[in-house]
Amino acid sequence: MPKVEIRNEENIVLARHEIRNLADELGFSIINKTRLATAVSELSRNTLVHGQGGQMVFQALREEDRVGIQCTFSDEGPGIENVDEAMQEGFSTARSLGQGLPGTRRLVDDFAITSEPGKGTTVEITKWQ
Ligand SMILES: Nc1ncnc2c1ncn2[C@@H]1O[C@H](COP(=O)(O)OP(=O)(O)OP(=O)(O)O)[C@@H](O)[C@H]1O
Ligand SMILES: [Mg+2]
Repeated sequence: MPKVEIRNEENIVLARHEIRNLADELGFSIINKTRLATAVSELSRNTLVHGQGGQMVFQALREEDRVGIQCTFSDEGPGIENVDEAMQEGFSTARSLGQGLPGTRRLVDDFAITSEPGKGTTVEITKWQ
């Protein structure tokens, strides 16, 4: 599976770029491509800022009657104490807006987050065209 290391700001731009290209290849609409690219930006920024860096792996999903993209962000950072709380609008430990996770969930079709304090965080998203 293709992988993008997320260690700096440029890597976030690259992650977004890779996903936009794949979305174009698969014939995503502009609106769905933009939704997914926004989600990728938010999650890769969380990986960098909160997770102390990590990676994104991604793949095209090709089924008989639909195509999609799945992206998995993982890090070995501090993890999240309370995932339900982190998913609330406005919750942030960084004095930021706290919109990233709840906003991202609304932009994609599938959203799964697992986190273990002291071990790290994984977020998997899927967007179908
Ligand atoms: N990969 C991660 N590792 C550790 N903690 C995380 C991770 N991703 C999110 N969090 C925690 O969840 C909180 C909520 O994340 P969210 O993206 O919604 O808000 P934010 O990043 O603080 O602000 P915004 O994204 O609006 O600028 C973060 O403040 C942080 O405490
Ligand atoms: Mg965020």
